[in-house]
Amino acid sequence: MKKVDVLLGLQWGDEGKGKVVDVLTPHYDLIARFQGGPNAGHTLEFDGKKYVLRSIPSGIFQGGKINAIGNGVVLDPLLFMEEAEGLAKSGINLKERLYISKKAHLIMPTHRLLDAANEARKGDAKIGTTGKGIGPTYTDKVSRNGLRVGDILSDFEAKYAKAKARHIDILSSMGEVADFSELEKAWLDSISYLREFTLIDSEYYINDILKADKSVLAEGAQGSLLDIDFGSYPFVTSSNTVSAGCCIGLGISPRHIGNVYGIFKAYCTRVGAGPFPTELFDEIGETMCDKGREFGSVTGRKRRCGWLDLVALKYTTMLNGVTDLIMMKSDVLDDFEEIKVCVAYEINGEKTEHFPFDTTAEIKPLYKSFKGWQTDMTQCCDEADFSEPFNEYIRFIESYLGVPISIVSVGPDRKQTIVRKK
Ligand code: GDP
Ligand code: IMO
Ligand code: MG
Repeated sequence: MKKVDVLLGLQWGDEGKGKVVDVLTPHYDLIARFQGGPNAGHTLEFDGKKYVLRSIPSGIFQGGKINAIGNGVVLDPLLFMEEAEGLAKSGINLKERLYISKKAHLIMPTHRLLDAANEARKGDAKIGTTGKGIGPTYTDKVSRNGLRVGDILSDFEAKYAKAKARHIDILSSMGEVADFSELEKAWLDSISYLREFTLIDSEYYINDILKADKSVLAEGAQGSLLDIDFGSYPFVTSSNTVSAGCCIGLGISPRHIGNVYGIFKAYCTRVGAGPFPTELFDEIGETMCDKGREFGSVTGRKRRCGWLDLVALKYTTMLNGVTDLIMMKSDVLDDFEEIKVCVAYEINGEKTEHFPFDTTAEIKPLYKSFKGWQTDMTQCCDEADFSEPFNEYIRFIESYLGVPISIVSVGPDRKQTIVRKK
């Protein structure tokens, strides 16, 4: 019986998951998302074209593979319809090969309003969410008030009316009254579109696939430092982004997890508020932002940039049981004479290599310096083309984390991906 390989982000999201899932798709029979929702923005580039996926897995472009949206995902049918129709215009018809779990939860228009209202109430302490209603939808799931995709198959109007009335009560108690009739109409229309897709009991479907000795790649969204349990709480998203979330979000046993691909940038970024010990506020950070085109693919917000944080990365490598590391965007650091990585934190005068409970405390990053490679990484086609300073950089990361770097990405295009020999 085959196992499910998982690919997930080890930092604060936007590591390049979409690109690598697309590259790995030919090796798998099924690609599945297991958590998150349209807060994700996964970018793929090939044949001179660029696509940004939010709810649809990144395995839809290569080889006509089946893709699935698992029960752990929260789905906004309206954003889903817009995304799917956009792809249909590019000739990608999903209805035949995108299956959706009946147990995935629906993001309602009022969830977006609640997301905005919650943020407004937090004032300066706001999280800087993507505004897509993610937190309120997962809140309803856990408090047993949610609507699920399978609910659209029977008596949906009554179920929707009940959930909406509850939300309106909450919004009114917060002093938030808004007219969302237009959005609601479009949203209800998109429910009919959703009915045109194959809705499945994805836990049975995926376990049957494994029994038939077919392979599955699970695509994470966000990153481990945004995990609801282990991330920089409360500045996190509302799902379990770590590999264990894959079991819950697809309905597979931990015994059926195979390789865990942990993906990270050669530096670090974060979008939204919250702690970021290695953040740079100088021109080095600006250069990373410019060269790395670090602007959010969902909200367009400028991403905060900083040096690679190995303390955080070691923590997330441990949490996920990473078997293979994937390093992205090496080319963005090409021009630097000196490159730094954080190897320890100093908190209250004490040195530690542990990611602390209180990430909002004052954390001083302690750095190790490397000579910059100052070569054009985008010209590398094979690991034999790597320069010595670059090899030194990746060797240090591998030895600090105790896991090999199996893939190095040297540009946004599908082809700019170097698989290293073991
Ligand atoms: P995801 O959310 O993890 O899928 O990542 P995003 O798509 O949000 O952000 C990654 C960005 O980096 C996208 O714009 C990619 O096209 C781009 N990208 C991916 N790999 C590389 C790389 O190796 N070099 C450069 N320069 N850009 C890359
Ligand atoms: P991908 O899959 C980067 C961040 C938001 C905010 C926090 C909570 O593209 O890597 P939410 O809307 O989830 O309640 O926002 O999480 N965030 C992301 N940051 N990449 C993402 O997804 C993100 N999804 C959510 O900016 O700080
Ligand atoms: Mg992204």
